[in-house]
Amino acid sequence: MNKETIPTIDIAKITTKKDARIAIKKLSDAIHFHNYYYYVLDSPIIKDREYDKLLFQLQELEEKYPDLKTATSPTQQVGGAPREELGLIPHPIPMVSLKTVYNEDDVLSFDASCRTDLSLLEVEYIAELKFDGLAVELVYENGELVVASTRGDGQTGEDVTANVKTIKEVPLILMSHKDVKPPARLVIRGEVYMSHARFNELNKRREDEEEDPFANPRNAAAGALRQLDPAVTAKRPLQIFLYGVAEATGYTFETQWQVLNTLPKWGFKVNLQYSRICNGINEALDFHREVNEKRDDLPYEIDGVVIKINSIAQQEKLGMRVRDPRWAIAYKFKARQETTKLLDITVQVGRTGRLTPVAELAPVNIGGVEVSRATLHNLSEIERKDIRIGDTVIVERAGDVIPQVVGPVEEQRTGSEKKYNLPKSCPICGKAISVSSDKKYAECTNRSCPAQLRRSIGHFVCKAGMDIEGLGWKRVNQLIDAGLVTGFASLYSLTVDDLTNLDRFGDRSARSLVDEITKSKERPFHSVLFGLGIPLVGFQTAKLLAKEFRSVDRLMNAKLDELIAIDTIGPEMAQSIITYFSDNTARKTITELKKAGLNLTAKEAVPSEQPFSGMTFVFTGTLTKWNRDEASEIVENLGGKATSSVSANTTYVVAGASAGSKLAKANQLGVKVLSEEEFAALIKS
Ligand code: IVH
Repeated sequence: MNKETIPTIDIAKITTKKDARIAIKKLSDAIHFHNYYYYVLDSPIIKDREYDKLLFQLQELEEKYPDLKTATSPTQQVGGAPREELGLIPHPIPMVSLKTVYNEDDVLSFDASCRTDLSLLEVEYIAELKFDGLAVELVYENGELVVASTRGDGQTGEDVTANVKTIKEVPLILMSHKDVKPPARLVIRGEVYMSHARFNELNKRREDEEEDPFANPRNAAAGALRQLDPAVTAKRPLQIFLYGVAEATGYTFETQWQVLNTLPKWGFKVNLQYSRICNGINEALDFHREVNEKRDDLPYEIDGVVIKINSIAQQEKLGMRVRDPRWAIAYKFKARQETTKLLDITVQVGRTGRLTPVAELAPVNIGGVEVSRATLHNLSEIERKDIRIGDTVIVERAGDVIPQVVGPVEEQRTGSEKKYNLPKSCPICGKAISVSSDKKYAECTNRSCPAQLRRSIGHFVCKAGMDIEGLGWKRVNQLIDAGLVTGFASLYSLTVDDLTNLDRFGDRSARSLVDEITKSKERPFHSVLFGLGIPLVGFQTAKLLAKEFRSVDRLMNAKLDELIAIDTIGPEMAQSIITYFSDNTARKTITELKKAGLNLTAKEAVPSEQPFSGMTFVFTGTLTKWNRDEASEIVENLGGKATSSVSANTTYVVAGASAGSKLAKANQLGVKVLSEEEFAALIKS
């Protein structure tokens, strides 16, 4: 126990601002100090209870004296105020990436060219882990964290300061070390990541809340780091390892080893346990082999080893190629692959009604995890890879927790393998399946299919539809499971009593949901029409139909040629409308909705101006909330256009994780770039 490190402060006795300032300083210093022991060194020197008390006292004082709250207060680590968008931060020195190699020969030729260029017989290297996360840059001025940014395109990154502050291992104030005083300005780099344990926890939580799980810890970390609301980041705990210095006034480091050993003295977390000085390239290759063996036992994901020349003078002598340095390489591990038998292909009906083919495999252990199922993504993927039932297939787990089928081992075919045929009927409800015109996706056509019902209710209550706030997936599912919701109209007969009988509904929340539902009866005809979810009828078309036909009765009886005569309605869409209304269930629904008092005729003029009218969007990189088709559909429903190439006419480029050339082009053309969260916020607004 370390009594000197716990300030004793009696909050009741603090009555002046001057005293408050002194107390706040003492508390902040103490908390920063203990954060280091707890989070960086992983060995706290006070009890949790004592730590909590310090934090609580600080919060109390800051509430009382809000103007004494600083940007580097430990209380910032629970998340600051949400923002509209992430600002951009230029990097003082470009953040380059590394040349990647996959085999020993390439490592040996890297070494050979280093030795030649440096005229040395042997080079000293530092081998480090290659953490599979996101690179960040942290800027400290006068010992305080002022800016944190992502790599972005290498020249300019996104401002993630508030989010990085929630990472407990990041010191908001540098520690002072007796031998190495912190520099006046320090720019350092490292990798933000999410541990396996935290990743699994987060995904479990997401599944409970019926949100799609993240495919791997890297995507999860990217999502958390680029949040607009730091409070959300704080709930998805991230970690960091620092590995480089870009600027440190007053310091000239001689070696990378010195860098790695100096950073901890200022309070940073460095992975010294798995960093090694290697005399000659063979020792680096040994390190790679050793780490490859241990990789499944590490609590975080790594995808290789980084080999860097230790001497900074030698690094400078070798300099840079266009995109990467000549003095370092990333020697990646091979993806974790195994072969096994593909026993069968089944389909899974997702929450949205889409059918996803799933590979049923003879169980196989891949890197410590037993795998018996893997996703096949979609129908065209099976076709493209020519995967047949009975095949021996290669299955991969590449940083991804969800295993993938890479492809068949054709040499092992016996001739008894069978091509996959999509079932004729939905495995959940037994009704017909429809396949998209590009043959990529299949969907169950039965709107009362339990899986489908969820989808149609979700669509019906969405913002552009009936706009029923307070009805998210969780509640939609709950209402369906309780048998209270069997179709659109049943929503309008829900009572407060029905709801209060359910879990997680109090009197107030029940009443407010019933009020919301009642209020939705005022939604205009075109919103109701959109909410019905007629296949191929987006928001624009719904408006057009409302404008042309002005009542559902006229629309229901419209003939094919009447529909096709309308500009922008093609034969496929016209047929879809006719098919929809020729179904008895749909006609019955319309009658019920009329009875419930919804607008099934256009009362006023249908507005034609759309929020995204005249705007063009390009999606790039990996999106986590939607796939590209879905994102494009959202844009189109709001009157915008989604295209695949960036030009000066593009309004926004929406960049997900690992966006590449399109993002670079957008920056070059000065096209505004939105993160996925910013895009989500834009739709909401
Ligand atoms: S050094 C010039 N060290 O790998 C040196 N990078 O493709 C630049 N990474 O963008 C990076 N672990 O995000 C370095 N120990 C490590 C690393 C590491 C992971 C990432 C980093 C970088 C990418 C390189």
